[in-house]
Amino acid sequence: MKDNSQRFVAQHVAGIPRSGIRDFFSIAAEMKDAISLGIGEPDFVTPWHIREAAIYALEKGKTSYTDNRGLLALRREISKYVEKRFEVSYSPETEILVGVGVSENIDLALRALLNPGDKVLYHEPCYVSYSPSVALAFGEAIAVPTFAKDNFAITPEALINAWQPGCKILMLNFPTNPTGGTVDKKALEKIAAFVVEKDMVVISDEIYSELTFEGEHTSIASMPGMRERTILLHGFSKAFAMTGFRIGYACAPAAIIEAMMKIHQYCMMCAPILSQEAAIEALRNGESAMLEMREQYHRRRDYVVARFNELGLPCHLPRGSFYAFPDISSAGLSSMEFATRVIHEAKVAMVPGTAFGPSGAGFVRAAFSTSYENLIEATERLGRWLDKNRK
Ligand SMILES: Cc1ncc(COP(=O)(O)O)c(C=O)c1O
Repeated sequence: MKDNSQRFVAQHVAGIPRSGIRDFFSIAAEMKDAISLGIGEPDFVTPWHIREAAIYALEKGKTSYTDNRGLLALRREISKYVEKRFEVSYSPETEILVGVGVSENIDLALRALLNPGDKVLYHEPCYVSYSPSVALAFGEAIAVPTFAKDNFAITPEALINAWQPGCKILMLNFPTNPTGGTVDKKALEKIAAFVVEKDMVVISDEIYSELTFEGEHTSIASMPGMRERTILLHGFSKAFAMTGFRIGYACAPAAIIEAMMKIHQYCMMCAPILSQEAAIEALRNGESAMLEMREQYHRRRDYVVARFNELGLPCHLPRGSFYAFPDISSAGLSSMEFATRVIHEAKVAMVPGTAFGPSGAGFVRAAFSTSYENLIEATERLGRWLDKNRK
């Protein structure tokens, strides 16, 4: 029977694209011999002691709902962790909300703050969900392009130029998915001063902050005048290899957390209790396993970036995250053509840079969250393919 149900779909939902990443991941998953540098997910299994905490909680019969904001014990651990790592303190009782991944918190933050038509600035290329999430919250997304020559760091000047009346929110993500870009402290201070001058709110997605290889990660929330206007988002998916647990959190002034909590309460109720128990264990005892994984990513990054450069695909050094973002324009193909041909002909899956916004044109994202051996084999396959096909 013909499916005519499309006519029932709301216009603002029909208007947003599907994630380009998932499409490539699905192709790679169907090809048995393909090496996937496609999906942004750790190749490590969650450390055993964290899994054990979830198993133990289940054994003890912890199968209930929790407080809407999350277990108080978890919020206390988050408060300690955030204070130590980001040098900004939040009350576990009123200023922290635990949700289903950073994903849910992005949605909650935007829905809690945006009135229809409010504008949101974000740097691009960026995580695929930002612009659609703004549209779903009836806001207007305004991209600030970033460039390889600046290591894909947003410059204060570009931000100032992009600003227009009605801009209420600035979304930041350092280190950045898909480029690994970060901004240095001086530039971040200028950005913070501009945000204060224009009375904007920052949604700061710091999900890759532990995976910073060069220099120290600085949170904009810790800068003068910023705590009162920042929603700091963080989670467990990347650094603790806990994507399937679906736990993330928001730290912000009480009135903002209260607004986000109301939406969360009605649409999600609470994050799963077993995952919250596992998250407590990750924060209490997970640091050494996390540092070991970071060491592996660091080693892989150095290898894969050097190989891309040797292959004539110029690649800046990502200062954090587990993504390399090489320039493939020398192949004479668009990002989409390049990624499509390479997956079919060389059996290496990478995501076209344009999946992360128009300013990703001419690049592909290669996730090095796969084994060192896979990276050797993937870059060898790519080298052979380039030798045959470069125009
Ligand atoms: C920048 C960024 N933010 C948020 C997320 C979503 O994370 P979570 O698994 O916590 O929902 C991702 C996942 O790839 C990401 O790259």
